[in-house]
Parts: sequence; C-alpha cells; structure tokens
Amino acid sequence: MNIDLSGRSALVTGAAQGLGLAMAKALTEAGATVMLTDVSDTVGAAATDLNAGPGRAIGRTLDVQDEAAWEDALDGLEAETGKPVGIVINNAALTLASSIWDLSLDEWDRVMAVNLKGYFIGCRCAGRRMRQAGWGRIINLSSLAGQRGGLVGGVHYSASKGGILALSKCFALELAGDGVTVNIISPAAIEGPMSRSMPQDKVAALASGIPVKRLGSDAEVGMAAVYLASDQAAFVTGSTLDVNGGLLMR
Ligand SMILES: NC(=O)c1ccc[n+]([C@@H]2O[C@H](COP(=O)([O-])OP(=O)(O)OC[C@H]3O[C@@H](n4cnc5c(N)ncnc54)[C@H](O)[C@@H]3O)[C@@H](O)[C@H]2O)c1
Repeated sequence: MNIDLSGRSALVTGAAQGLGLAMAKALTEAGATVMLTDVSDTVGAAATDLNAGPGRAIGRTLDVQDEAAWEDALDGLEAETGKPVGIVINNAALTLASSIWDLSLDEWDRVMAVNLKGYFIGCRCAGRRMRQAGWGRIINLSSLAGQRGGLVGGVHYSASKGGILALSKCFALELAGDGVTVNIISPAAIEGPMSRSMPQDKVAALASGIPVKRLGSDAEVGMAAVYLASDQAAFVTGSTLDVNGGLLMR
C-alpha cells in the first residue's frame, strides 16, 4: 500500500526526540507538512533535520498543558499551509518511575496534567477545527502500561495511559460522523536510549521474552502513525493499534 500524505498538514507533540520525532519523520517522508512541537527548544533543530523532503517540517515550542498555546500553534500551522489542520498526534508524556508509596501528590498532578489533560486539550482544540473542516485524524499515544498496568514508568504514568484509552474513544464517538477518526497507538519494547545503553546480554534477555524475539524500532511506530493518518484508514476509529511484538494479544 502506497500512502501519500502530500497536501496534508500535521502537528506532533513531544517531537524533539524519541517516538514523536520518528512519527514526524515518517509523516514528512509520506509528503505531509509537519509542525514538530515540544517544551524543549531543541525542537527547532529537530525539525530542520527533517527538511530533506518530500514533506516539510517546522519546529515550534508548545507546552501541551496550555490551551491558548495550542490554539496559537494550530493557527500558525494553518497560516503556513493555508488549510485546516488535518492530523494531530498527541505524543508528549512525562515518565517518572517513582514508587507508589513515595510519590508526592504534586508529582501525580504534574504527570496527569501533561499525559492526560494535555491530550484532552489537544483532542478538543484539533477536534473542533477538524469537525468544521469535515476531515481529520487524531492519534493518541498510550502504552502497554496503560492496558495491562505496570510500575516501570510509575503508577501515575500507567493510570494516565489507561485514561487515554477511554478519552480517545469518547472523542472517536463524538467525531465519527464528521470525517474525523481518533485512534490510539500503544507501543511497548521499542528500542531507545535505555535499551541502547544496556549491555548486549541484557538486551538479548529482554528480546527473548518478546514473542517476535526482538525489540521494535521507532520507524515501525512511525509507519503505524502514517497508516492511521491516511485516507485508507477512514473506517478505523476508536481502535488501539498495538505495536508491541506480541507482548499483549487481545
Ligand atoms: N518509547 C517507548 O518504548 C514507549 C513505550 C510505550 C509508550 N510510549 C509512549 O510514546 C510517547 C513517546 O515516548 P518517548 O519514549 O519517545 O518519550 P520521550 O520521553 O523520549 O519524549 C517525550 C517528549 O515529550 C516532551 N514533553 C514533556 N513534557 C511536555 C509538555 N508539557 N509539553 C510538550 N512536550 C513535552 C519532552 O520534552 C520529550 O521531548 C509517550 O506518550 C510514551 O508514553 C513510548
């Protein structure tokens, strides 16, 4: 299947590094104009690196907790492309591996504000515009930890990722008649800075516990996003695409 996103515009949160950057790269490779956003101002350089084409990348700082900043960023993208935003990927997250017994309520609130409220704001700001335009794709990043529970990223992280599953289905139902789909990507066991810094034997042990016997790549998450962002995925909404090597089969 050849997916062409040229003529589409996208905003990706938390895109200065990691999976956000990989998904932004995959979207630009499919031809989209992509605004990479992040609280980190390294996002500008990250965007510049993606400008080899065929799509175009723009970098902009955006704290996902700030509704007015969301509207400004979406206005900026729409002014740049001359058309309504088509694709929004809510990806930014805080992962703080504190123990259940020690974490402060202030930390609980901080994680929920970014990982859950930030996604709600993003879905609502984008959803309003997409509903009016009659076309849109919203993709929210959850995690195996949100489906199964797990304390590696903290109880607050897992709870926020579980909340994203329900939040996404609410928006999917609300927008289903308006040409707007809302789906979830739920990754696990993706190669990243942590696995790359581990000794080879530890990585091999980790891989042996995964049904496909290897870690996933960020490019594989990028391709999942390209599919869900495409016209071809118009009949897919409220669904969760697991990119986890078979760690969870439902
Ligand atoms: N990497 C994995 O293996 C994995 C597994 C399961 C789920 N996920 C999910 O995928 C997404 C990306 O994961 P990652 O590992 O690439 O994360 P990461 O920690 O590498 O990157 C997260 C980015 O979000 C940004 N960010 C943090 N707070 C922000 C805020 N308030 N506003 C805007 N940006 C903010 C950070 O600056 C950072 O660039 C997350 O939602 C995570 O829960 C990742």
